[in-house]
Amino acid sequence: MKLRFHQFGAPAEQLVLETDEPRAPGEDEVLLKVLASPINPADLNFIEGSYGIVPDLPATPGTEGCGEVLESRHEAFAPGDRVMVLGRGEMWATHVTLHGDLLFKLPAGIDPLQAAMLKVNPTTAFRMLHGFVSVPPGGWVVQNAANSGVGRCVIQLCKTLGWRTMNLVRRAELVDELIALGADAVVIDDAAGLDQAKGIMAGEAAWLALNAVGGDSALRLMNLMADGGSHVTYGAMGRKPLKIPNGLLIFRDLSVHGFWLTRWLENARLPEVHRTYQLLAHMVMEGRLGVPVDSVHPLADFPAALKRLTAEDRKGKVLFTPGL
Ligand SMILES: NC(=O)c1ccc[n+]([C@@H]2O[C@H](COP(=O)([O-])OP(=O)(O)OC[C@H]3O[C@@H](n4cnc5c(N)ncnc54)[C@H](OP(=O)(O)O)[C@@H]3O)[C@@H](O)[C@H]2O)c1
Repeated sequence: MKLRFHQFGAPAEQLVLETDEPRAPGEDEVLLKVLASPINPADLNFIEGSYGIVPDLPATPGTEGCGEVLESRHEAFAPGDRVMVLGRGEMWATHVTLHGDLLFKLPAGIDPLQAAMLKVNPTTAFRMLHGFVSVPPGGWVVQNAANSGVGRCVIQLCKTLGWRTMNLVRRAELVDELIALGADAVVIDDAAGLDQAKGIMAGEAAWLALNAVGGDSALRLMNLMADGGSHVTYGAMGRKPLKIPNGLLIFRDLSVHGFWLTRWLENARLPEVHRTYQLLAHMVMEGRLGVPVDSVHPLADFPAALKRLTAEDRKGKVLFTPGL
């Protein structure tokens, strides 16, 4: 069984559950039973046809997930191994057959739900914190959409690195929760919140700004940045373009970047990719890194799963768990 779409459009209208036989693995391929796969914003964009990768149709979404090896013709894997996908996964399915080079063997005992979410959110946070600017000990990192999966990983990783985080959120009820997670400060993402953030930072400024919203929110981050700091856009939840005042580039020398994990996975050398996932998987197992789970669903329950994404009381990621 797999979820598929035959034309681009709204996920709730386009997804259908279809029956198919698992494909036997060819040379160097592995047949997986899919254990879990989250619904990420990128999956929704993928179905809408607005993502950086536009698939041939029909297509199965599920950019990340973890599975158990049922049959292997790749020397690195044996039946019973638990793995996560590094390439594009097509993981909203009960089974998938993939080339073994696109898989990463998970440490035994890792929680399959966290393992299913390891590829995208923790790694995006990790790469953005390490790939752009050198933040000094105790230095500030500012971000919007701080309650997102990526945002929460940024908070947890900065805590480990000894960097302080200024977090902008849409909803006041998130403040205590994110402080408990390790955030140094949390403010509402509006003009009053910006003033509050400046007061808390008391003349200090951020070396790195991580933007998943765009528009005025991205500009508020710029207003909290140090001269020469790096502003990195990795998401566009507000669907508004960046507006950058000329003076911020001319007099303040801000660097404006974009980040896309897919490009890193394509360009990084495999040993570096494996080292990164080993490190992050161990942090997950030690309980130092993780993404909260809102709800888990069988594939057939996809209308309810999609509805949870926009529910006001959503408390984390929504996942399909076909094999758990
Ligand atoms: N470039 C990359 O490689 C990469 C990798 C991973 C993720 N991303 C992007 O990063 C963003 C977050 O992804 P995720 O998986 O971490 O998300 P997520 O856990 O599903 O959370 C989505 C977040 O977006 C916020 N949000 C939703 N609509 C918004 C709006 N109109 N204005 C402002 N905020 C809004 C939500 O706020 P509430 O907390 O208030 O609900 C929530 O914090 C997405 O844009 C995703 O595509 C990019």
